[in-house]
Amino acid sequence: MKVAIITGAVGGIGFATVEKFDKEGYAIVAMDIVPSDVGNERLAGINDFVYVSGNLASADDRQALVDAAINTYGRIDVLVNVAGVAPRVRADILEMSEESYDFVMDINLKGTFFLTQLIANQMVKQYKNEGIKGYIANVSSCSAYTSSTNRGEYCMSKAGATMMTKLFADRLAEYGITVNEICPGIIATGMTEKVKEKYDNLIAGGLVPLGRWGLPEDCANAIYTLCSGMLGYTTGQSIIVDGGMHIQRL
Ligand SMILES: NC(=O)c1ccc[n+]([C@@H]2O[C@H](COP(=O)([O-])OP(=O)(O)OC[C@H]3O[C@@H](n4cnc5c(N)ncnc54)[C@H](O)[C@@H]3O)[C@@H](O)[C@H]2O)c1
Repeated sequence: MKVAIITGAVGGIGFATVEKFDKEGYAIVAMDIVPSDVGNERLAGINDFVYVSGNLASADDRQALVDAAINTYGRIDVLVNVAGVAPRVRADILEMSEESYDFVMDINLKGTFFLTQLIANQMVKQYKNEGIKGYIANVSSCSAYTSSTNRGEYCMSKAGATMMTKLFADRLAEYGITVNEICPGIIATGMTEKVKEKYDNLIAGGLVPLGRWGLPEDCANAIYTLCSGMLGYTTGQSIIVDGGMHIQRL
């Protein structure tokens, strides 16, 4: 049985991704910062899973996640890096605190990078010993290339994630491992709940050509496609999942 590690598995995009890989017959190693009872309850309908409660920003917790995957299933086929945070307070970049910068960067970029490094080494070992081709998919954002001056730390973390995708794609290509990312636009999840009215108005005003919010499932389907082998000659690529919002229009 193939095994997928999915971080941020309790959240909107993460849980939709768990459901998609479950439907496709994968065993799931799900990680999120919420406590074990909450995580296990959320995943109760999933066929074959282990839930690991941990903080992506902690080296010990990242190691515990990889250990849980190997101890439970003995292999890792797919890593999907979904976990991420917005700043707790949206502050103008002329006012942003170092604390907020560190909070966002430690999770979105540093934590994601070092988890990927750990799992990449495991995938290289599996490729050399058993010929298993790994797949890695990252969740970056339209914020990787779109300025929001009241959450600059988030934009910088996602721009960094896009370079991370390219770096690992380059480094791991010789082992048959593909590394790609999606850049979601405006997706209806817990992260956007607080700014729902603002985005409702922008979408009603025509910001998104397809005329609706993105759904977590829109992201999960793109992520699964990147990890399914169907796009086996594609690596280091960003797929924009934004209803056409990136199209410059006159
Ligand atoms: N919702 C959007 O519009 C949108 C747009 C572009 C990109 N994204 C990205 O999509 C990803 C998923 O976000 P979402 O929209 O599903 O939001 P969400 O808040 O529903 O999910 C994020 C999940 O990450 C978990 N998490 C937070 N900090 C963590 C940590 N330190 N360690 C482990 N897990 C942690 C949360 O508990 C939560 O379950 C994020 O990386 C986000 O930046 C979201």
